[in-house]
Amino acid sequence: MLFRKKIILAVTGSIAAYKSALLARLLVKAGAEVRVIMTESSKDFITPLTLSTLTKNEVVSSFTTGPNGAWVNHVELGMWADVMMMAPASANMLAQCANGSCHNLMAAVYLSARCPVFFAPAMDLDMWRHPATQNNIDLLRNRGNYIIEPASGELASGLVGEGRMAEPDEIVQRLETFFNLARQMHGKKVLITAGPTREAIDPVRYISNHSSGKMGFALAEELAARGASVVLVSGPVSLKVQHPSIERINVTTAEEMLNEARKAFSSCDAAILTAAVADFKPAEPAESKIKKEQAPNNITLTGTTDILKELAASRTENQRIGGFALETNDGKKNAEAKLQNKHLDFIVLNELSEQNAVFGSDFNTIEIFSTETGWQNFGKQSKAEAARSIAGFLDQIIHHD
Ligand code: CTP
Repeated sequence: MLFRKKIILAVTGSIAAYKSALLARLLVKAGAEVRVIMTESSKDFITPLTLSTLTKNEVVSSFTTGPNGAWVNHVELGMWADVMMMAPASANMLAQCANGSCHNLMAAVYLSARCPVFFAPAMDLDMWRHPATQNNIDLLRNRGNYIIEPASGELASGLVGEGRMAEPDEIVQRLETFFNLARQMHGKKVLITAGPTREAIDPVRYISNHSSGKMGFALAEELAARGASVVLVSGPVSLKVQHPSIERINVTTAEEMLNEARKAFSSCDAAILTAAVADFKPAEPAESKIKKEQAPNNITLTGTTDILKELAASRTENQRIGGFALETNDGKKNAEAKLQNKHLDFIVLNELSEQNAVFGSDFNTIEIFSTETGWQNFGKQSKAEAARSIAGFLDQIIHHD
């Protein structure tokens, strides 16, 4: 699975840097092409000669460590790679990457890289547990980076606890699983709706809701990373799409979302509707701005079409469809009722509570229900991780020829 994969191995200053020699050897043995970037301080723990000999490639560490002192093109390196693996990742480099500061070549490559990035942290127990480090880990995770959690055991400091870098064979295993997943949805087309809709009261005012679109966008990125082509129909949000296999269609109203979703769905294998579509809209929006003095006492509302219900009713035998249920009470009961009523294959429950803010948050506590599987609880995850859980679930039920 790693055959001919282009891997940047980024080695930072930590005692665990000695393990990167073994990691480099395992990657090369598996057929990968490995280029190593070292920080200056990592050279106190392992020599560039060891890593260049093992990878049969020049090791770079500063902007001028190319052949004969030539400038190292960090953008080119970032573009070259299929994956970047920082192992070991020190607390300092995690902080630099999380905060976008760029004090060395490695950080510049990280900021330029378009490929997925993995971090295998290694540090002392208290450094790992420190809220500053945990905050940086959360930031990196929320941006879709992968963290290979450190293991527990005896640390170089003599303390015992979490902080040991994962073993090289486990890291290789994670990469293999990752590249396997990249082909999981190959040839599949999935429709995602995301964000809020806006329903006009007059040309300057509207009814809407707090949806940020983060969950739907994370799901679109995850499915695309697994090889699917994705049509993302999104209401007004301030998010950007990263993956080239995502076709983004911007809409404003529930009606526009319905029309675009209908058009796209007929050629899709599955749809997951995460959008917080307005259930009601002003029945007769004013054509010109309503003046203060003419403020109406009431606005008459009329229902919008339930996009999820309509698509589910029109689907063919091989198409799969799932929706979201945002509930404040009786979550499971209400979600199961929604699944029945809308004839869905599965439903993702978001329970809105003090602990699970959902709107705008980078975290989400989700549970997924289908009649065949019953309830599956995924606990509190970053939205990128929740997207992985949902994509994994979809893979189990999507029609494979
Ligand atoms: N949905 C939709 N079109 C609508 C309303 C909702 O596609 N007009 C989809 C949402 O994207 C979500 C699911 O339906 O996947 C659940 O929406 P929700 O508003 O929670 O449920 P409702 O069925 O509208 O019920 P209620 O508001 O009473 O909870």
